[in-house]
Amino acid sequence: MSAKIAAPRGTFDILPEQSAQRALVEQAARELLEGAGYARIETPAFEATELFSRGVGEATDIVQKEMYSFDDGGGRSLTLRPEGTAPVCRAYVEHGMHKLPAPVKLYYFGPFFRAERPQKGRYREFWQIGAEALGSDDPAVDAELIALLHELLRRLGATVRLRLSSLANAQTRAAYRDELAAYLRANEHELSETVRSRIDLNPLRAFDADDLRTQAVMARAPRLIDRLDSEDAEHFAQVRSLLELAGIGYEIDPALVRGLDYYTRTVFEFTSDSLGAQSGVGGGGRYDGLVELIGGPPTPGIGWAAGIERIVLAADLQLPAPQPPQIYVAHEGRRAAAFQLLLELRGAGRRAEMELGGRSLKGQLKHAERLGTRYVAIVEEDGVRLRDRESGAERTLSAEAVVRQVLSV
Ligand code: HAM
Repeated sequence: MSAKIAAPRGTFDILPEQSAQRALVEQAARELLEGAGYARIETPAFEATELFSRGVGEATDIVQKEMYSFDDGGGRSLTLRPEGTAPVCRAYVEHGMHKLPAPVKLYYFGPFFRAERPQKGRYREFWQIGAEALGSDDPAVDAELIALLHELLRRLGATVRLRLSSLANAQTRAAYRDELAAYLRANEHELSETVRSRIDLNPLRAFDADDLRTQAVMARAPRLIDRLDSEDAEHFAQVRSLLELAGIGYEIDPALVRGLDYYTRTVFEFTSDSLGAQSGVGGGGRYDGLVELIGGPPTPGIGWAAGIERIVLAADLQLPAPQPPQIYVAHEGRRAAAFQLLLELRGAGRRAEMELGGRSLKGQLKHAERLGTRYVAIVEEDGVRLRDRESGAERTLSAEAVVRQVLSV
C-alpha cells in the first residue's frame, strides 16, 4: 500500500453532516440578505496580488505574512483571496456599478485563504458570508448592516456581544497615529519586542498585544475615539442612536483594532464566548476610501464578513431530519428493468434509489429499512412486487402501475 496523503494543515473536509449545517447557515443568510435587497456576487478565488497589498494594506499581518501568492507563469503575481471586500470593490469598479442607484447592496458566500497558525476556529482555508453596501455614507446603512448580522446570528441561535468603535477619517487617523507612535516611543522600555518593532509600521496594533506590560501601557494611551472631528463624531452618534432604536446592545471598545487597513469611521465585531481564543464570529466596518484607492471614483462603502465555521461553532443549529428516498427499487439480477423503473420514478419527480451494492434480496430490504423509504419495489420476472413498509401491504403490479401508485401518495 502507498503512503497516505493527508489534507494540508489548517484545511478541512466538509463532510455530508457538516454540509447540512452549513447549508442552514447559507439559507438563513440568503433569506435575510435577499429580503433586505442584497444581491449575490461571487468574485474569483484569486486576484492580482496588488489588489490586496494596496487595498488591505502593506502593513497588515494579512499582507505581510498570510497571503498565498504565486506566479501565474507569466511573471504576474496572483494571490488566493484572503478576504472579500477588496475583490467586491474591484468588481464594482470594473463593472461600472457606480452608475447604479446607490447604495449597491451585495453579498457573497465562499472560501478564503490565509496562512495563519491553525487552531480551533482558525483555518488556512475558511468560508465567509459577507455583505457590502457601496455608494452611501448614511449612518442608517451602518446600522442596517449591523442589524442584519445581529439578526442572522440571532436566527441561528448564537449568543454574541457587539463591540463598536469609530476609526475616524484618514487625516484624523494619520494625526492620531503620530500621536500614538510618539506615546509608544516615550514608553518603549515597557513594550513587548513585537510591538516595539511595529511602532512605525502599525502603532495601532499595539492595542492587540497579549503582553501584560504592553497592555498596561495601552490602557493609558491616547484614544482615537476621543479625537474624532465633529462630522465623524456626529456620524458615530447617529449610528449608535439607530442601534439603540433597534434594541441592539453594544459596548464601545476604543481599542477595537481590525486587521485590515481600509477602515474609516464605524467598525464593529460580534464575539462569542463559545469560541475560545478566536472569539470573533464576524466583523466589519466602513471603508470610505477603498474604492478610490483601487482606482475607482470616490465611493463610500461599508460591510461585514462572518466565518461560516465560527458561526457553526457559536450557533445552535437544529438540523431538519434528512429526507429519505420515497421508493427503493430492489432486484435480484434484473438490473436493466430495475434501472428503467428507477428512471421512470425519477422522471415523475419522485425521490428514488435502486440497489447498487450487490446485496442479497434480504440485504436490500434491510438497506431500504435503514434508509427509511416507505415503498420498496422488487423487480421480478412477472412484474413488480410493491411493498408498502408502513402498512405491510404487498401487491404485484406492472411498472406503470407502480409509478402511478407511488405518485398518488
Ligand atoms: P475579518 O475580521 O478579517 O474581516 O474576517 C471576518 C470573519 O472571517 C472573522 O470574524 C472570522 O469569523 C472569519 N475568519 C477570518 N479569518 C479566519 C480564519 N483564519 N479561519 C476561520 N475564520 C476566519 C474581513 O475579512 C473583512 N473583509 C470584513 C469586511 C467586509 N469589512 C468590510 N466589509
